[in-house]
Amino acid sequence: MKKVYVKSYGCQMNVYDAERMSDVLAPEGYAQTDRPEEADLVILNTCHIREKAAEKVYSELGRVRQTKQERAQAGRETKVVVAGCVAQAEGAEILKRAQVVDAVVGPQSYQRLREILRAAERRRVVDTEFPVADKFDELPALDARRVRGRGVTAFLTVQEGCDKFCSFCVVPYTRGAEVSRPVAKVLAEARTLAEAGVREITVIGQNVNAYHGEGPDGRTWGLARLLRALAEIAGVARLRYTTSHPRDMDEELIAAHRDLPSLMPYLHLPVQAGSDRILAAMNRKHTGDAYRRIIERVRAARPDIALSSDFIVGFPGESDADFEETMRLVADVGFASAFSFKYSPRPGTPAADETAQVPEPVKAERLARLQALLEEQRQAFNRDTVGRTVEVLIEKSGRHPGQLAGKSPYLQAVVVENAGLSVGDVVPVTIVRAGSNSLFGGTNASRAGAPPTQPDVSANASAGEAALAVQ
Ligand code: SAH
Ligand code: SF4
Ligand code: F3S
Repeated sequence: MKKVYVKSYGCQMNVYDAERMSDVLAPEGYAQTDRPEEADLVILNTCHIREKAAEKVYSELGRVRQTKQERAQAGRETKVVVAGCVAQAEGAEILKRAQVVDAVVGPQSYQRLREILRAAERRRVVDTEFPVADKFDELPALDARRVRGRGVTAFLTVQEGCDKFCSFCVVPYTRGAEVSRPVAKVLAEARTLAEAGVREITVIGQNVNAYHGEGPDGRTWGLARLLRALAEIAGVARLRYTTSHPRDMDEELIAAHRDLPSLMPYLHLPVQAGSDRILAAMNRKHTGDAYRRIIERVRAARPDIALSSDFIVGFPGESDADFEETMRLVADVGFASAFSFKYSPRPGTPAADETAQVPEPVKAERLARLQALLEEQRQAFNRDTVGRTVEVLIEKSGRHPGQLAGKSPYLQAVVVENAGLSVGDVVPVTIVRAGSNSLFGGTNASRAGAPPTQPDVSANASAGEAALAVQ
């Protein structure tokens, strides 16, 4: 049996694509492996968002070349494919820079992977077309047997591409124009996931709340309506969505947070910066105060919602005063978690041509200050959970015997002491301690659906602490 090793970088969209690539290859007899040295086919599913992310590909290709040589000495052939956003952005350039690569396949072309591999037997191939046909129509239908084994949480792409053209961002160029999948297709895929035992679906898209898919009634459905339909599917205990844009955060979606118990109280809503001048230069088309007002409305609908965001420091022209506006926005809003980055000029994007680039040491200092504040907020949010009972979806076994690992509604990692639980259960857990990256708690409930029992906090507290003293 042939083996394929797929390594994904970047966002959740790439995780989804990587799974679908292995689905495409399964009928060719490829089994998945997590050991590159035993792979007949290596696929690097790449990310182009920042320079560092893009450069990682070339260091990884160096390692792949080594493995390919070793395998060749043992008489075994290895094919190497670069997929994803670097493939789209750099195309044939990759073949020039890395001799080891046999094929370059863009994010809108991987449904043709089998044909591409056949062609690569004869010559090196570049396929970075944006096809007219819908990629999703050409992909094999999701197979419940293959989904099983991928765990109880799954990503489901409902929207792809971006028409927003933020001045720093490569996504509109690497992923193409915004496209929404029809509602019926999304629901069919969600049902297959549920049948395969998936308990939590995260609906994904580069701008997922710009979703405007064709409904079964012939009308255009927005994300809120799609979420309402997904919430009806038996077995799906939890729904999440990511990534959303402030401009598409409409009243219907906010109302869904109020009305749908399975829609988790967690919102990742990137703001990027706090200064209106910088937001305008970024072409975000919203102000800092507009963002604050959205957050107020979301919190009114769902008071316990946890917020998360993305930030860029050192965008061209960002002054000290502009940066202080970002710090002020973070202080005003309060985030449960966040991602923050130094601005990285990307070829082909308007901001890369700006002359007023911020010096590296200034970027580094701003990032350190911002991250310190965000980390303080994250820790405070986690500490606030201690003493509370939260529902945890058990995702896998923990590091120590008798432990299980799962997530709270607020996407916090939770280690649970209870040997009687199974993966896929959703149980109330009383949090007894907040570590630096995980919460710890215990439960007496044994199965999902069982009436919540009164957790024995003291007994579980000692068990949790003892087992994890060396965390
Ligand atoms: N579609 C999402 C984000 C996609 S990229 C949105 O609109 O928010 C994920 C994050 O990477 C962005 O939110 C941004 O914070 C960061 N990012 C994108 N381009 C970047 C660049 N050139 N330099 C630094 N960070 C960048
Ligand atoms: Fe990039 Fe902006 Fe589109 Fe997000 S909205 S993917 S940051 S261009
Ligand atoms: Fe990276 Fe492409 Fe996602 S650039 S963040 S993998 S859309």
